[in-house]
Amino acid sequence: MPVRSFREIKHDYRFTDEDEQRLAGLKTVMDDHADMVMSTLSLWIMGTKGAAQFFTDETRQKHVFEAQRRWFLELFSGVYDNSFYEKLIKIGRVHVKFNVDAHYMNRAMNIVKNSCIDVLQRTEEVKEEYTNKIISLGKLLDISLDVITTAYIDEELKTYSPAYKVKSALIAFAERFSQSMNLVLVLALIGLTIGVVWLFVIDVGKLINGDLERGIIGALGSLLLLWVIIELMNTEISHLKGGKFHISVFIGVALVTTIRETMIATLKHEKAEMIYYLVAAILVIGVVYWLVVRTEDRTR
Ligand code: HEM
Repeated sequence: MPVRSFREIKHDYRFTDEDEQRLAGLKTVMDDHADMVMSTLSLWIMGTKGAAQFFTDETRQKHVFEAQRRWFLELFSGVYDNSFYEKLIKIGRVHVKFNVDAHYMNRAMNIVKNSCIDVLQRTEEVKEEYTNKIISLGKLLDISLDVITTAYIDEELKTYSPAYKVKSALIAFAERFSQSMNLVLVLALIGLTIGVVWLFVIDVGKLINGDLERGIIGALGSLLLLWVIIELMNTEISHLKGGKFHISVFIGVALVTTIRETMIATLKHEKAEMIYYLVAAILVIGVVYWLVVRTEDRTR
């Protein structure tokens, strides 16, 4: 079974920015009615033999019902990123671990959906808005259930297919490895940013010491570098949040460093060929940058 990214899942459900905003707009109403929705769910759980058997222990009951409430309130935070996805995966795994039948999860989600529709019916007067809100919420709850049930499917596959077991262990290892590499990347970027700020300070120092031309051009060059590094960090942050990877940022880095090199070369009165070479490089990278940004904008 292919590993799906959260971005892909959201796209499959056509879960758009509009859906996100609509759900965030429901926050106050749902906060006010959370007690009602959650008590409907807990009443069903406690009134259903197979489900209630998990909650003979009162502390566990309290703990899980509170966790369900937190999960419910987060549905309307308006942020549906990788951390939201990971929480769902975790919820799936916990229930598989405790042998909670998938059937109960389906029904629990169904209850949450019905209760929310009931709340909307009471609070939303415009018919079109009412329908739109139900659709957005329906998508999010279905996505959540979809992710949660994946844990069950994974478990079943693991039991029946040893090859899948190996594959999933491999994927888990690769994921952990890539996460630690992301950490290395972020730390390296922070280190580089500090380095560039230092470079900027040195350039400003030259400026103060009276070397006006060198100081200004140098400082401008290091500011350009700082700007791309910030851009790189933003790319990494949005990548970690589950966003799309933009290759244009890296071409931007090449472009900016070449521009900086040219500025410095002009200052040092380098040979004319050297400057021609740098200008040609800027032209080529510039065209590539423009082409890539155009395709990225089109696929966004
Ligand atoms: C919308 C449906 C549900 C959601 C969102 C949900 C959410 C959660 C969460 C977040 C936890 C982890 C708590 C922690 O941080 O340790 C959890 C644990 C658990 N849930 Fe659910 N749950 C749902 C439905 C159910 C149902 C229907 C049952 C039983 C039939 C159930 C039984 C359990 C059990 C046994 C645990 C483990 C408790 C422990 O750690 O001791 N859940 N649930």
